[in-house]
Amino acid sequence: MDFNIKVNIKKNQPDVTAEIEVQCQDYVMYKFEVWSVGREPQLIHNTGWGDIKQFEYIPEKNMCFRINCGVRTLNSKKYKSTKPWYVSQHLDILPVLSCGRNGMIINNENGTVTKKIFFSKDSLWDKKIFEEYELQKFAHDSGLSTPQVYNPPYKDDDGLWSLDMQLINGVLLREVEKLNIADCEIVLEQVVKQQCKMEIIEHYVDTCKALSGYITDTIKKATFLDAPLKEALLSRFEELDNGNCGFIHPDFNKWNVMYNVDKQICYLIDWSDPMYGSQLYCASKMYFSFAFNSIMGGSASPVADMYLTKLEDMMEISRNDVIAWLPFEAVTRLSRNLIKAKSPRKLDVARTVVLREWAKENSIKYNESLLIPDNYNG
Ligand SMILES: Nc1ncnc2c1ncn2[C@@H]1O[C@H](COP(=O)(O)OP(=O)(O)OP(=O)(O)O)[C@@H](O)[C@H]1O
Ligand SMILES: [Mg+2]
Repeated sequence: MDFNIKVNIKKNQPDVTAEIEVQCQDYVMYKFEVWSVGREPQLIHNTGWGDIKQFEYIPEKNMCFRINCGVRTLNSKKYKSTKPWYVSQHLDILPVLSCGRNGMIINNENGTVTKKIFFSKDSLWDKKIFEEYELQKFAHDSGLSTPQVYNPPYKDDDGLWSLDMQLINGVLLREVEKLNIADCEIVLEQVVKQQCKMEIIEHYVDTCKALSGYITDTIKKATFLDAPLKEALLSRFEELDNGNCGFIHPDFNKWNVMYNVDKQICYLIDWSDPMYGSQLYCASKMYFSFAFNSIMGGSASPVADMYLTKLEDMMEISRNDVIAWLPFEAVTRLSRNLIKAKSPRKLDVARTVVLREWAKENSIKYNESLLIPDNYNG
């Protein structure tokens, strides 16, 4: 049974109306949801399944939100959700191309320039947003392949920070990963080429912090590690840290690299938290992003393995060294994500698995309940 769905969203100050038209022979039910956007999206309103095809929403707060519509047949219970609709605080319907946890990328009709609109209005973020601009500009000017930023961030009509940048016509590495392994090889070569370039860039002095200090501080402060595990991690890190002081992408993973298939070029996106340090950190983060399903007990990832081979061939980085850095990828990321999250993402659970396994291998006693929060239920 197929649906033919059309959604009309109308802005009608002070409310927004979503209306679904569906062609389907079966008896059809509808559902509308309103979500806040950002780091921890919240379901603000949910109509539940029913006959109502039209839904009016008057936003209570000054915020951007997302409307999701769902359609289901009564008999077969077949379900289809429509594409999400993003609405700004001024009730403009935003042509959102892609959405992350910090911001969304707007589809600009001229096809070359886009803007990232940041969700947070918290003034604590002002500095971070300028840092992201400066870092991305620095990366681009240093010859790395990254979207060009055109001017410093500015506030749009909704009072949200916007950053104009080059629109990348490409897909995330996570999509590329689904290609056949021969095609993946070409892409991974491009990724490692960028790492080779990063390694020789003199670090960005003004706001850059040292990765080594950041990792040791994070371990010391982590509330989800108990004392023996902290101590063991710190001494292991001291052994491993090779003091390589190149420029790094602090969140190097398959969700922050885009690839243009026609030009065979990859672009590093999402620059924040300027840092300098070991390329092994970047390598372990990228490896983790490819391998996390296998870490969670799934089948081994040929892409993760090929990535390690490329690092060996092109950068003389040994696979054991990359794997040895995984617990540090896990601690730094968990310290940013897990503590706040009510139900951690699968990725974060995989990071707790990395830590648990590492502790086991090193015969360290630790309090496992600290690694996965009590309220985790997924
Ligand atoms: N210059 C660009 N051109 C086209 N699409 C882009 C561009 N920059 C980012 N994107 C898309 O938008 C998504 C979100 O961007 P980005 O990763 O910068 O946002 P974020 O909210 O900081 O991310 P995260 O959730 O990873 O912390 C990306 O995953 C990518 O699909
Ligand atoms: Mg991102």
